[in-house]
Amino acid sequence: MKDSYGREINYLRVSVTQRCNFRCAYCGAADPDARELSPGQFALFAAAFARAGITKIRLTGGEPLMREDIAEIAAAVREAARPETLAVTTNGVLLAQKAAALKKAGVNAVNISIDTLDGDCFRRMTGRDALAAVTGGLETALALGFDRVKVNTVLLRGVNDGDADRLVALARDYPVDVRFIELMPTGGMADYRERLIPSGELLARFPGLAPAPGGDGVAVCYAAEGFLGRIGFISPVSQKFCHRCNRLRLLADGRVKPCLGQPDAYDLLPYLNDPERLYEEICHCIQKKPAGHHFEQDRGLDPMNRIGG
Ligand code: 5AD
Ligand code: SF4
Repeated sequence: MKDSYGREINYLRVSVTQRCNFRCAYCGAADPDARELSPGQFALFAAAFARAGITKIRLTGGEPLMREDIAEIAAAVREAARPETLAVTTNGVLLAQKAAALKKAGVNAVNISIDTLDGDCFRRMTGRDALAAVTGGLETALALGFDRVKVNTVLLRGVNDGDADRLVALARDYPVDVRFIELMPTGGMADYRERLIPSGELLARFPGLAPAPGGDGVAVCYAAEGFLGRIGFISPVSQKFCHRCNRLRLLADGRVKPCLGQPDAYDLLPYLNDPERLYEEICHCIQKKPAGHHFEQDRGLDPMNRIGG
C-alpha cells in the first residue's frame, strides 16, 4: 500500500521485546518492565499487516532472542502473514542456541550486530564479555544455511573504528554482507557528534571497493575482488533515505510507529479482536508516515531497544 508521499510500504519491523542482555553505549537500553504481546497476538497483527501489503517482516527488539518463545512467535507470524522474507536481527549472543529452532520456524534471514572483533573492545562497547558467543552464533547461522546472513556494524570514532579492516575481512572470508550503519542520535550519547563517522569518510578508507548491485533499499552496496560477501553502507544521517523508506514498526506492546525518528505511535492493541477495524487503523498509520526524520534536531528520539533497530 502506498503512503501519502507515494512510497510503497511493504516492510514491517516487529520489536518483540524492549529487553536486552547488552548495554551498547549508543543504544541507551535499560530494562523496562513493559507489556509484551504473545505469539498469538503478534500473529493477529501480522495477518492484518499482510492484508495492508506487508511482504517482509523482521523480528527485532531489544534483543528478540531473549524471548523464550521467539521460535513460536516466528512460526505464528510466518503462518499468519506468509511473508516472502521473515528475518531476525539479533546481537548474536543466544544465536548458537536458537538458530536451528528459528530456521525450523521459517526464519530465512538473520542479521547479527557485531561492532568489533576485539574481545576487550567488545566488552567495553556492549557491557558483556561475549565476543566468542557472538562469533559462534554467526558460524552456526552460516552452517545452517539461511538464505541470507548479514553483519551490522556501527563504528564510533576513537572507539572501534580501528577495527574496520577486520570487519570488512569477514565479507572476504565468509558469504556474509557486512553493513556499516552510521551512528544515529537515538541513544542520547553526550559525545554523539564526535563519535559519528560519515559513510563517505569510511568508504574512502577502502579504495578496493567497487559499486555493486543489491542492498534492500537503504544500504549502498560494494564488492571487492575475491570477496565472498559484499560491503554495505547505511547512511541515515549523511544521506537521508527517508524518501525511499518502505517500513513501519510494530512495538512489543502493540503500538505502531510510522517513523523511527519521530515520537508518534498509535496503540492498536484495542482493535486486535476486530480484524476489519485493525486493518483500517493500520492503513491510517501508513497514511500518517511523515516525510522524514529530523535527526539533525537531535531531540524527541526513543532509544533503539524500544523502537526496534
Ligand atoms: N545508531 C546506529 N545504529 C544503532 N543501533 C542501535 N542503536 C543505534 C544507533 N544509535 C543498531 C544496532 C543494531 C541495529 C538493530 O541497530 O547496532 O545493529
Ligand atoms: Fe541491545 Fe541492540 Fe541496544 Fe545493543 S543496540 S543494547 S544489542 S538493543
